[in-house]
Amino acid sequence: MRVLAVGGATLDIVNSVAAYPEEDDELRALSHHRSRGGNAANTLVVLSQLGHQCSWAGMLGDDAASMYILDDLRRNGVDTEWVTVHPGGAAPTSYVISSRASGSRTIVHYRDLPEYGYAAFEKIDLSGYDWVHIEGREVSVCAQILRHARAVAQSTMLSVELEKPRKDIERLIGLADFVMLSRSYASAHGYRNAQQLFDGVRPYSASAMLFAAWGEAGAWLQGADGRSCHAPAFHPPAVVDTLGAGDVFNAGLIDALLAGEEPELALNRAVHLAGEKCGRRGLRIA
Ligand code: FRU
Repeated sequence: MRVLAVGGATLDIVNSVAAYPEEDDELRALSHHRSRGGNAANTLVVLSQLGHQCSWAGMLGDDAASMYILDDLRRNGVDTEWVTVHPGGAAPTSYVISSRASGSRTIVHYRDLPEYGYAAFEKIDLSGYDWVHIEGREVSVCAQILRHARAVAQSTMLSVELEKPRKDIERLIGLADFVMLSRSYASAHGYRNAQQLFDGVRPYSASAMLFAAWGEAGAWLQGADGRSCHAPAFHPPAVVDTLGAGDVFNAGLIDALLAGEEPELALNRAVHLAGEKCGRRGLRIA
């Protein structure tokens, strides 16, 4: 199936440390590597491994790191035809501390590129895409993108990820068929569990299917009929690397729903894929 995702691609500079440091500590990394990251890009790289034809639409600069990101996407079979290059811009960069003790990933992100614009999205030929996934970023642009996609590609499934709180980002909920909500979004709003989160965002859409990923507690979904269900987490033998686990979860959902699976099964598949990923470094799936 053909999937288009709009959102970020980043350079991730990852330092693995024995345990997460104290403030003002000085410590040596046990290992160090760089990789291509970014929520939308990560999700596509996993979907591509699952056999889908994927395209990424987003913004990069013209520096060496941006070229590295483009090369990596292409090597992973992700089409980059719809990328906008900002002359003189630098690739968004994440400095990641990956703790061997807990598997946690702490991210300091730097970005000074403009956001991907609606004018670029409007030029994309959406016919033939079975699914369009939007990473919820600049709200007014994402809203325009979702409205346009709905108008010109009526049979295409639309999903949106709300990972971080942003002013008025809830406006996007009513514009998609599927909404992926993160635990950090939930906690930023004071929701203590998935049911509270669903109760809080349901007023924004009567018809969307809502998903909430909750780390080691698993994940939940709520259908338009208000019925919720839970999938327990899949625990790998050891938690090695959680960087990108949420993006893998989203890929698992999209893959299973595109295959026509029931939402409950899709939720279980996604949790399993994300859990397995936490047992391995990087985004190669088994
Ligand atoms: C993981 C990730 C990283 C990236 C950061 C951007 O979900 O996509 O690859 O650096 O989040 O917020």
